[in-house]
Amino acid sequence: MRMRWIAALAVCALGCGVGLAQGAASTGLAMTPPMGWNSWNHFAGKVTEQDVKNAADALVSSGMRDAGYVYVNVDDTWQGTRDAQGVLHANDKFPDMKALGDYIHSKGLKFGIYSSPGPHTCARYEGSYGHEQQDADLYASWGVDYLKYDLCSYRELMSAGAADHPNDPDYANKMMKAAYVKMHEALEKTGRPIVFSLCQYGWDDVWTWGASVGGNLWRTTGDIKDNYDSMSKIGFGQAGLAKYAGPGHWNDPDMLEVGNGHMSADEYRTHMSLWALLAAPLLAGNDLSKMPDETKSILMNKGVIAVDQDRLGRQGDRVSQNGLLEVWSKPLSGGAVAVGLFNRGTSPAEMSVKLSDVGMSSAGKITDLWSGKMVKAKDGEVKASVPVHGVVLLRVEP
Ligand code: GLA
Repeated sequence: MRMRWIAALAVCALGCGVGLAQGAASTGLAMTPPMGWNSWNHFAGKVTEQDVKNAADALVSSGMRDAGYVYVNVDDTWQGTRDAQGVLHANDKFPDMKALGDYIHSKGLKFGIYSSPGPHTCARYEGSYGHEQQDADLYASWGVDYLKYDLCSYRELMSAGAADHPNDPDYANKMMKAAYVKMHEALEKTGRPIVFSLCQYGWDDVWTWGASVGGNLWRTTGDIKDNYDSMSKIGFGQAGLAKYAGPGHWNDPDMLEVGNGHMSADEYRTHMSLWALLAAPLLAGNDLSKMPDETKSILMNKGVIAVDQDRLGRQGDRVSQNGLLEVWSKPLSGGAVAVGLFNRGTSPAEMSVKLSDVGMSSAGKITDLWSGKMVKAKDGEVKASVPVHGVVLLRVEP
């Protein structure tokens, strides 16, 4: 049985992928990086329907929805068991998924869900293996707008498949692509526009093929943790990936930890600035129902969000690195450019950047996006004092 299934996948892997990049783009989904909230970073396996409703309420009352955060994504551990017809039911924590979707939609928000191509999710709940179309149809019937599809136990099938095909070194990779193609096609078949988020931790340079299997975004790394070391390793480790991102298909360095409590405000501003420069999805991962003003000010800085969501859809990249001091920039529409001066060190630093280094011959207006103040260039150069683990993020208009 397993062999037959693997063979079918392999055929698709060789033939199905090519036309799909256009398919993904033609849906017009995720033309800017998706923004919203996801349950995992704060609630993990404990998340309940009430937590999700509270998050939806808070997105509205805090102003986050109006700032662009519209997806309400339930991550792992909502799944129950399949009935005799194979239809998956949610577990006791989620009494009525259709009603939850309706609630989320009634607030002007969108509903996201989570599954795996394997038999089990990463938290060992029911996955979609062998039920892909049935699950896609179910999600559509619940009004789902976003699916995060997490490799998890499918890795075990890939290892078995590779072991059965010792002469094909690409066999596991082909299986992985085929699994994503299969769900992409199932989602397309529902007729409902559903953002497709690939989660496979950046394996096999997914940025080079994620769009071709229908992905609107793909995780480029392992899981983020709420500390500076994890966040900065992931964020600054994105250098060089800019060319793979664009409208409809984004690199995803994982969800935000802003507000989860284990980084300083400067570190969270670094997190937010870096993600904006990376044109990364902005999926808040904190408890939105208990947000201090400082957290709100970081998540809802309009100028920073505008950098992330700029309609040009270009990801930024590193411009220069001098020890623990880094300059990153991102081209924006209208000839503007966002520039981040980052201090990864443990003492405050004086930093400078030449306008010519970020492709500008001169600057009309320069705004410090965190202080809101205007900044002046002198002799074509901008200087800034950057705090420990902090950032100065500038918007430079031509
Ligand atoms: C993986 C993913 C996380 C989260 C968990 C849920 O670790 O990378 O983002 O979805 O699974 O189990």
